[in-house]
Amino acid sequence: MSIGAGTATATRGARSEARHFAGWSFDPTDGRLARGRVEVYLRPKTAGVLRTLVDAAGEVVAKRDLLEAVWGTSATGDDVLAVCVNELRRILGDDSRHPRFIATAHRRGYRFVAAVSEAPSARGSVGRLLLGREPESAELRRWWAEVHAGRRIVGFVAGESGVGRTSLVRAFADEVQAGGDAYVGVGRCVGHRAGGEPYSPFLDALDAVCRGPGGRRARDVLWQHAPTWLLLLPGLLDDDEAVRLRDRAGAPEDGRFERMLREFSDALAELANAAPVLLVFDDLHAGDTATVGLIASLAAGGAGDRVLVLATYRDPDGPAGARIASVVRDLEWHGAARVMTLAAFDESAVRAYLTYRLGGMPDPETVAEFAERSRGNPLELARLLDHRAR
Ligand SMILES: Nc1ncnc2c1ncn2[C@@H]1O[C@H](COP(=O)(O)OP(=O)(O)O)[C@@H](O)[C@H]1O
Ligand SMILES: [Mg+2]
Repeated sequence: MSIGAGTATATRGARSEARHFAGWSFDPTDGRLARGRVEVYLRPKTAGVLRTLVDAAGEVVAKRDLLEAVWGTSATGDDVLAVCVNELRRILGDDSRHPRFIATAHRRGYRFVAAVSEAPSARGSVGRLLLGREPESAELRRWWAEVHAGRRIVGFVAGESGVGRTSLVRAFADEVQAGGDAYVGVGRCVGHRAGGEPYSPFLDALDAVCRGPGGRRARDVLWQHAPTWLLLLPGLLDDDEAVRLRDRAGAPEDGRFERMLREFSDALAELANAAPVLLVFDDLHAGDTATVGLIASLAAGGAGDRVLVLATYRDPDGPAGARIASVVRDLEWHGAARVMTLAAFDESAVRAYLTYRLGGMPDPETVAEFAERSRGNPLELARLLDHRAR
């Protein structure tokens, strides 16, 4: 595969499954790079660089093409690219003189040299760890059962930073995906100021749905009912189809947002007719207004179709958290949404986590000390352990 003009739009057009190389697993949808007990969430641009390189493994990708694929037209020089490559090398433990992952092609670009697979078998070894969340997982399964029976549910998972919102909803999405009888799409909000276009998390989720099981049919549904959306997913169209679809959709008009809302709800109803739909939006406090508005309208117009929309947000957390929290409170007040607030780990979850990380049961004093110092926050707990290991 070469990264030419046709695939420069591949920031979204690329495949959305996890990639595996040399014991690492990389999930481009959320930038999660993991190996054994190491887990890092890459910055979006760094994740974009890795995704582009990995997808062209074995071939040199020109700097210009990398910049265009990841930064679009906004990149000013290739310093930003060098920063990302250095960051990746540091995380992967790579050496530019004897590269095992990213080789520099002098004056030309970079080449990913490790063998890449998408084999799900490699995935089990680095599957998501989810400790101490049985009640919350059970609650999500109950919501899903209701959805199966013909409801639309919009649910929010709130909690402080690092408490485990992403871990919970992604483990649930993996579980539903493994069930094989649903459309599943995950999108992450990465901050409007970071160059997010309106509806960007929805576009990511739709892209994932169209690339997952039954994706061909999902794409046909978009073609039929939501051409404006499909046109924003160029990776799903060849040039010929894009021209035909543009003809059919007509020129962008005033009221584009209303049209997109209408198209989306038509397409969603059609999809849900074929199979239950799970859409997950992580970090909604960082979402653009169009995304927040669409989720609110899905909640308010809760018709009886088989759709579960799950969104996480940070609460409490400054103005961004407050903005979304008030939207959520309003929906909850009107009975249009459900809210689950994730609490910190209790002592038994802290013990389970320590047992896992230390490879053996810790004594009660250690558990108490870690529980107190981390306040039961899993991210804090992980940091304390990393610190101790150094
Ligand atoms: N239930 C859990 N079991 C094991 N590890 C967890 C759990 N919840 C969170 N973690 C770990 O804590 C860190 C932060 O979790 P994350 O889900 O990203 O939090 P949030 O999305 O709420 O900020 C991650 O490294 C994750 O692996
Ligand atoms: Mg998170």
